[in-house]
Amino acid sequence: MASAQVLSERGLDRIPEDYVRPPEERPEVAHDSFSHRQNIPVIDLSESRPRSQIVKEISQACEGWGFFQVLNHGVPYELLQRIMDVGAQFLSLPVHEKQLYSCRPGIAASEGYGHRMLVQENQVLDWRDYFDHHTLPLARRNINNWPGKPPIYRHTIEEYSEQMKLLAQRLLSLISESLGLKPSYIQNAIGEPYQNISLNYYPPCPEPELTLGLQSHSDLGAITLLLQDDVGGLQVCVDDTWVAVQPLHGALVVNLADQVQILSNGRYKSIEHRAVVNRNRSRISIATFYDPGREVTISPAPELLSANNPATYNSVLFGDHVSAWYNKGPKGKKVLDSLAV
Ligand code: OGA
Ligand code: NI
Repeated sequence: MASAQVLSERGLDRIPEDYVRPPEERPEVAHDSFSHRQNIPVIDLSESRPRSQIVKEISQACEGWGFFQVLNHGVPYELLQRIMDVGAQFLSLPVHEKQLYSCRPGIAASEGYGHRMLVQENQVLDWRDYFDHHTLPLARRNINNWPGKPPIYRHTIEEYSEQMKLLAQRLLSLISESLGLKPSYIQNAIGEPYQNISLNYYPPCPEPELTLGLQSHSDLGAITLLLQDDVGGLQVCVDDTWVAVQPLHGALVVNLADQVQILSNGRYKSIEHRAVVNRNRSRISIATFYDPGREVTISPAPELLSANNPATYNSVLFGDHVSAWYNKGPKGKKVLDSLAV
């Protein structure tokens, strides 16, 4: 099956039927996107700012949105540029070279190059190619599975993995505090972190109004950090309206994922989001997922529950939550909603 890039390069005027979404899922590719230019919060993480102020802003952003951008996050700007650059260099290789790293079909979250995320056959396809890297724990890391071109690719992923781990841990400690829990709380609930880094490529699309680059979903684990170029296309669902996340130079987009929604007993949201594509420009984003292992049970924090605030989610083994998502398709947040008490 052809990748989105191959289809894009064929110069078709129509997209294949497999990519056409049912009418209710089609994006408004808004010429008037400026009219709903409501922005997700931006938080300045400078070490010089009072921690209590940052915690307050985090709490508002997590309660109101579950999505925010961070600036002065401590990740060297040079590294952000370099990872985008090596990602673009790999993506510009001929398809047959990229296919040397193809991920294994029919296996959820298998490492490598692919364009078909879900396991089930009769899914509408996303107008996206990706490369998924298994970066943590180190026992899962095999850099020979990652692109060998350009030569600095593998080392750059390793450096980025370390920086994303540190930033995720810092954010999770702030988020824990903002819930009135001890700073290490969410990290302890995660246990040994599982980190995946996905390089996403959204090629130009002749009929962007009929398809999506990435269908609506919420992320499964604890927290996701997204680096995107200046093209734009990420949208978040706020009160049933799709709001575009404006690319902000040097920023990382942070979104809470399902484990944090469950752990906070629904106080914080793992927001539904999707990526739209456009006719003229290709887009690259790099998502770093920070998750528990499959054997970890995710559940509401007992410290946050009381007679007046009973658990609103059943506990679930993280591995079962992941399997449900990949097998049935995310269908927005249906997989998470099915855990409601
Ligand atoms: C993801 C994701 C959004 C984007 O990879 O889970 O939501 O803009 N990506 O690429
Ligand atoms: Ni996502």
